[in-house]
Amino acid sequence: MKNIVLILALSVSFLGFSQGNTHTQAGGKFEGLAMTPPMGWNSWNTFGTSIDEKLVKETADIMVSSGMAAAGYNYIVLDDGWMTRERDANGDLIPDPAKFPNGMKAVIDYVHSKGLKFGLYNCAGTQTCAGYPGTRGYEYQDARFYARLGIDFLKYDWCNTQGITAKEAYTTMSNAIKTAGRPMVFSLCEWGDNQPWEWGKPVGNLWRISGDIYPCFDCEFKHPENWSSWGFMKIVEMRKDIRKYSGPDHWNDFDMMEVGNEMNDTEDKSHFAMWCMMASPLVAGNDFRKMSKETLAILTNKELIAVNQDKLGIQGFKYGAEDGLEVWVKPLSDGNWVVTFLNRSEVPKKVNFDWKKHNIKDADFGYEADFSKTVFKLKDLWKNKETGSTKKNFVADLAPHDSVTLRLIP
Ligand code: GLA
Repeated sequence: MKNIVLILALSVSFLGFSQGNTHTQAGGKFEGLAMTPPMGWNSWNTFGTSIDEKLVKETADIMVSSGMAAAGYNYIVLDDGWMTRERDANGDLIPDPAKFPNGMKAVIDYVHSKGLKFGLYNCAGTQTCAGYPGTRGYEYQDARFYARLGIDFLKYDWCNTQGITAKEAYTTMSNAIKTAGRPMVFSLCEWGDNQPWEWGKPVGNLWRISGDIYPCFDCEFKHPENWSSWGFMKIVEMRKDIRKYSGPDHWNDFDMMEVGNEMNDTEDKSHFAMWCMMASPLVAGNDFRKMSKETLAILTNKELIAVNQDKLGIQGFKYGAEDGLEVWVKPLSDGNWVVTFLNRSEVPKKVNFDWKKHNIKDADFGYEADFSKTVFKLKDLWKNKETGSTKKNFVADLAPHDSVTLRLIP
């Protein structure tokens, strides 16, 4: 009997021990790394796999000298194409020596010396989307490799993942990062195919919610291989109803921005305003070395950035739409509201908004602005200028795809 008790006790403690031991798989992401939407730059939208040391250094230099860094942009993320086609004899990834002749560490040290942070990309599958070695089966080894390099951000993609489960694959990598011990923002990029907003909160700090962005207002770009990229309003529309899943340290990621790429300044302004309204990560995707002063002014608009970075972290919502004119709203932590009037149509529109007739209710988060009871002062955030109050109708002419964003101050 005594022996049986002993055996039972041993097996219980053995079980306990082995469970404890699996905490080499530390559970859960690094918390608190993205309490407001991350801001930075990513190479993919403009450069694809044509990336190198010179590009990173020049981008870092301009990030600081242009005022982007002062406006809050601090991550420089190299997307697909930074490594060679094969791992080394130990199974480690190899930064492409033709693109990074001094190694990746030198590049990262340079970025850090500018007071900025650095990120890399890989993929949960056997290969990245551009055919470089993926992480599947190498999660812990790759996480240790990134920790040794000293990166601060990992974007983790979803190509070539046949037969694996998204939640498990991302959880494994999240655990691997935690175990490697260096805090890194973990950016899930599985395009919203497996509803990451439902399971991603303990796993990562942000998650893509759609396929890739395309530099157009509202188009669908069909690739010959049978997938689509999306104009920025298509992404907003597609995911406007999952706002309750987004918040501090667990953001719905509307994708890297196309500001300064192929749209005109009017569309770029609306694009930026909507990313701020949606509390999306603000990751520039343009070539800083060719950035116009208009593009820089859009990306560094402090008033809009304050809306994006508001600590309440609420993704805005569509309050109404009529005849191609849309009204998007977002409550802020200080009791202010932000309202964007957007001309979604192809013809000029006149806004004539009688505030007193409206009582805006945010059913998901429990905020309310009843304009028949409370008067708000209005501030135009692009002009950085007060423009009357909610006592009077708001009147504005909007060109196609144009928008105006107002801060409402009670
Ligand atoms: C996918 C991602 C993009 C980019 C490319 C790289 O399409 O969604 O953001 O990372 O892969 O190949």
